[in-house]
Amino acid sequence: MHRALDRILAERFTCRQFRPDPVPRAVVEELLRLAQRTPSWCNTQPWHVHLTEGAATERLRTRLTAHVATGTPAPDFPFPVQYTGAYRERRRACGHQLYDSLGIRKDDQEARLIQLLRNFELFDAPHVALVTTEADLGVYGAVDCGLYIGTFLLAAQSLGLAAAPQAALASYSDFLRDHFALPPGRRVVAGIAFGYADPGHPVNGFRTGREDTGNATTWHTD
Ligand SMILES: Cc1cc2nc3c(=O)[nH]c(=O)nc-3n(C[C@H](O)[C@H](O)[C@H](O)COP(=O)(O)O)c2cc1C
Repeated sequence: MHRALDRILAERFTCRQFRPDPVPRAVVEELLRLAQRTPSWCNTQPWHVHLTEGAATERLRTRLTAHVATGTPAPDFPFPVQYTGAYRERRRACGHQLYDSLGIRKDDQEARLIQLLRNFELFDAPHVALVTTEADLGVYGAVDCGLYIGTFLLAAQSLGLAAAPQAALASYSDFLRDHFALPPGRRVVAGIAFGYADPGHPVNGFRTGREDTGNATTWHTD
């Protein structure tokens, strides 16, 4: 089991260019079944997923890209206020990897914007899973949904799928609330675009690093 998990963790990456092929319904159902095993505080399981396929994905892609052209970002959960120190460095490093993979120069703001907007085209994925939580459950409801997203990503990898977690989608929470007719009291956490990776596309050709565990851990022994 350890070897299997190690391999799933090592091979998963954020896919930013999908092939158009839809994932068979039975495979999506299995993905959802696996992700549903996610633990949550008091087993509240606060996630509710709005999942698109076929024409519903195309409709979301078309409407969302049109909305983003004029809409103002307003996420349900505030985005980070600032990135400092190591967080800033890591953010810059993964940004450089992304833009370098596409041959986009640092000062080419237009090309960077075009790539940013690919988020709202769902990186051409055939499916998206929009993960929502219950407002009353507050930050821990969102934490549970974060765990759900993590399980979903690993489950997708185990099934030969690729995925992209997308906080970018939550920028337009009101639009998504309206589009998916979310009940009052639901909050948008993030989306996950998924499908089959386009393995030859350069944007899928880089892998991010991780800090040494020693720098992310403080041991207390006596
Ligand atoms: C909660 C969450 C939100 C994310 N939002 C976005 C996003 O909006 N757009 C994007 O391109 N990547 C997004 N990512 C992907 C991260 O940039 C990526 O996970 C990180 O750089 C590590 O790379 P890896 O996933 O390839 O290992 C998100 C990841 C997480 C966990």
